[in-house]
Amino acid sequence: MTRKPRVFSGIQPSGNLHIGNYLGAIQQWVAGQGQKTNFICIVDLHAITVPQNPADLRRQTRELAALLLACGIDPQQTTLFVQSHVRAHAECSWVFSCITPLGWLERMTQYKAKAQKQESVMTGLLTYPVLMAADILLYDADEVPVGEDQKQHIELTRDLAQRFNYLFGETFVIPKPVIRESGARIMGLDDPTVKMSKSETARGHAIRIIDDPDEIRWAIKRAVTDSFNEIRFSDDPERAGVNNLLQIYELLTGRSRPEIEAHFAGKGYGALKRELAEVVIEALRPIRERYYQLMDDPAELDRILAIGAEQARAVAEPKMTLILERVGFVLPKDRR
Ligand code: AMP
Ligand code: TRP
Repeated sequence: MTRKPRVFSGIQPSGNLHIGNYLGAIQQWVAGQGQKTNFICIVDLHAITVPQNPADLRRQTRELAALLLACGIDPQQTTLFVQSHVRAHAECSWVFSCITPLGWLERMTQYKAKAQKQESVMTGLLTYPVLMAADILLYDADEVPVGEDQKQHIELTRDLAQRFNYLFGETFVIPKPVIRESGARIMGLDDPTVKMSKSETARGHAIRIIDDPDEIRWAIKRAVTDSFNEIRFSDDPERAGVNNLLQIYELLTGRSRPEIEAHFAGKGYGALKRELAEVVIEALRPIRERYYQLMDDPAELDRILAIGAEQARAVAEPKMTLILERVGFVLPKDRR
């Protein structure tokens, strides 16, 4: 019998979840439920690679769980869990760090960008992709659906899997990144040359999933466009703002590009913005409502996460035992 493809992806509990996260990643995770075996991990161990306030981290972890459920992650079909609840992630990460050349990590563009912003760079920021490789490989994931920015990390994961397999014998499935063509990189509304980012908190940069209608209208109305006054999809960097708005429209309505261009033919940017704002508001409304319901019942959230952790451990623990065995450790009794 062929097994269903296994999907693993992760997301940081760093607050401010926005439509870039939703369109680039979460929507794909939801769409794959049922046909695939899905693991979605709230990566709190990754979050602490930059300074975190403990109370905020705890709150944001539960908020993210509620948001993912509100976006349509169904715990009956997806194993949704918190990374630190499964000890094998940290354990495996150590083993991997001992076979990862430093140069591989120093080359990572996300590391270079983040390191520039820190006064003093912690080791965990550098070894971040090693932990990410542990996440993915512990579950024998075939597919890793992510936004474009994570591609390099998944390539490193593949290299690491191959290296381990070569050194210690066939142990890991080589995973592949799954990146959407449209939505892989949603840009900032205030600056279409940079990707929409959680860490950019300026008003009007992002549309957050729980923003209210007035905030959404305000941000879209102010979105940077150009002076061509022509509504069509385009790779021209000068038209990046309008292209970004059109991509959001495309992904939320499911309409085809020619259909969208025909619909807006002869209309101005004002019309596009007004219509897009209503599309975004209606798409996010049920998510926002469900989110507040879920946040009203933290015990239920914790219960869902506990079940997820148990299911995740059932896969990761035996894999970890195999890894320790391959490396040559004497296994303790509770691992045998
Ligand atoms: P992060 O915000 O870094 O925790 O990312 C969570 C997921 O959202 C990852 O799969 C990212 O690749 C994806 N993502 C983040 N920002 C964007 C964006 N602006 N456009 C598309 N996908 C994004
Ligand atoms: N680094 C990813 C991000 O910032 C999050 C992540 C951690 C992840 N572990 C993962 C994504 C494993 C996919 C698979 O978006």
